[in-house]
Amino acid sequence: MSLKDELSDLLNQGLADLKKINDQAALNDLRVSLLGKKGPITKVLRGMGALSAEERPVVGSFANEVRDQLQAAIDDRKKALDAAKLARQLEEEKIDVTLPGKPTTRGNAHVIQQIIDQLEDLFLGMGYQVLTGPEVEEDRYNFEMMNLPKDHPARDMQDTFYITNEILMRTQTSPMQARAMEKHDFSQGPLKMISPGVVYRRDTDDPTHSHQFHQVEGLVIDKHITMADLKGTLELVAHELFGDRFNVRLRPSYFPFTEPSVEADITCFNCDGKGCSVCKCTGWIEVLGAGMVHPNVLKMAGVDPDVYGGFAFGMGPDRFAMLKYGVDDIRNFYLDDVRFLNQFSMKG
Ligand code: PHE
Repeated sequence: MSLKDELSDLLNQGLADLKKINDQAALNDLRVSLLGKKGPITKVLRGMGALSAEERPVVGSFANEVRDQLQAAIDDRKKALDAAKLARQLEEEKIDVTLPGKPTTRGNAHVIQQIIDQLEDLFLGMGYQVLTGPEVEEDRYNFEMMNLPKDHPARDMQDTFYITNEILMRTQTSPMQARAMEKHDFSQGPLKMISPGVVYRRDTDDPTHSHQFHQVEGLVIDKHITMADLKGTLELVAHELFGDRFNVRLRPSYFPFTEPSVEADITCFNCDGKGCSVCKCTGWIEVLGAGMVHPNVLKMAGVDPDVYGGFAFGMGPDRFAMLKYGVDDIRNFYLDDVRFLNQFSMKG
């Protein structure tokens, strides 16, 4: 067979083989076997030395033509295989962007925390600091330094969970008064603080009692603080939390750590002060205890009662939330039922 015929056969055979190729690896093998250094075309070109001077350019240019045709056919096949591969990939990895997404549920602050946050914002704006303290507290801070020695009958006002004789679950946030005063450097200015937190009492849970609830303690100690400052501050809280039409009334009361002591009422939200069943026809609702800090409490915390004095209050965010949102059972706040809690979501 002449070299030219041999090349023609190679071309035809190569083109036929190419048609059967269906993947990139096989295509590469075929390319190497046809056009590679050890392939038949290279071999033909090497054998050209034996040809006559007339035949050599003819066979040479034909060999180049065969090589170019095969190369072009291989390139075409490669393009087709690449396109097919991409099409397959697009099909397999197709994403249906119209499918509904998986909803991610977002939490929100507990309704009691929302009230505390609002109080913190208000008091921070007036230059108070926000302090927090231990829920497992010493008897010394919870009672003794609050002017309640061990045998004091007023200890019965707050049924206590004792851990040891000296350690207890705090029954009030008032121990933070003593802790704050002990630490404060009065040469740097007045002490103004609020202290939010959880307190515990050995009460039987019912719609208005919970063995665990919240308080926000407030304390201002300086040189010329009067009860008018206390009343003005409480009015501001009432206006901020409930609205401007709410007023505050102070009634005489008793706490061992304040003298005089008061209980503060705000206008009944239900009847606007006219009198209804919610306020027992008084037009007022009791919301917190307060008073002027007792000289003994100042003394025990290392503050000179002849120079300094001030007011303290203890408010109940649980009670505020019940009044504000008409919740009639305090236990709802502690049951973690999302159906209840979602009603106070801030998502809008
Ligand atoms: N600690 C008191 C209570 O729990 C409330 C209170 C705080 C009263 C500060 C006066 C001053 O009942």
